[in-house]
Amino acid sequence: MPKVAIYPGSFDPVTNGHIDIVERGLKLFDKIIVSILHNPKKEYLFPLEERLEMLKDCMKKFKGVEIDSFDGLLVDYAASRKAHAILRGLRAMSDFEYEFQMALMNRRLNRNIQTVFLMTGLRWIYTSSSIIKEAIQFGGNIDGMVPKLVQKKLAQKFALAPEFRQSGEPRLR
Ligand code: PNS
Repeated sequence: MPKVAIYPGSFDPVTNGHIDIVERGLKLFDKIIVSILHNPKKEYLFPLEERLEMLKDCMKKFKGVEIDSFDGLLVDYAASRKAHAILRGLRAMSDFEYEFQMALMNRRLNRNIQTVFLMTGLRWIYTSSSIIKEAIQFGGNIDGMVPKLVQKKLAQKFALAPEFRQSGEPRLR
C-alpha cells in the first residue's frame, strides 16, 4: 500500500521552509497531499485560489505531490484521502506546544492516523509566513525566503494596498 501523508496548513503564503519539509517528507512517503485549510471565518492575506496557485507552481517540480484544500476536521479529511499520516514541520521550541496539542487531539479523534514531525532545515528555522509578511509589509528584503512567484505576489499585494502597508493591520495574521 502506498504511504500517503497529508501536509496541512494555511500556506498564506507558501515559503521555502514549507518546500523544505515537502522535500524531506518525500524521502519517507510515496505521496504527499499538500492541503490548504479553507476556513471562511478566518482572514487571510491571499484568497484560497491564489494560495492554491502558488502552491501548485512551486510544487510542480516534485513527483508524488498533490495540491488540494479541505475544510472541517483534518483527521476526517485525511481518512477520506486514505492517508495514514499527517506531516508537520517543526522549527523552534515555540512551535512545540501548539503542535503537541494538535497532534494529541488528532490522535484522540482518529487513532489510525499518526502525526509525523520533521525538523526544518536550519536555514529556515526562523521563517514563517507571518514574519515574512510583516517584513515585506515594511519594505524588508525577503529574497530567498519564498519562491519567486510568491515574492512577486507579495510585492503586488502590498504595492496595490498602500493603506494596508501604513496601518500594519488588520489583515496580517
Ligand atoms: O499552517 P497552520 O495555520 O499552522 O495550519 C493549521 C492547521 C490547518 C493544520 C489546523 O488548523 C487544522 O488542522 N485545522 C482543521 C481543524 C482541525 O482538525 N483541527 C485540529 C483538531 S481540533
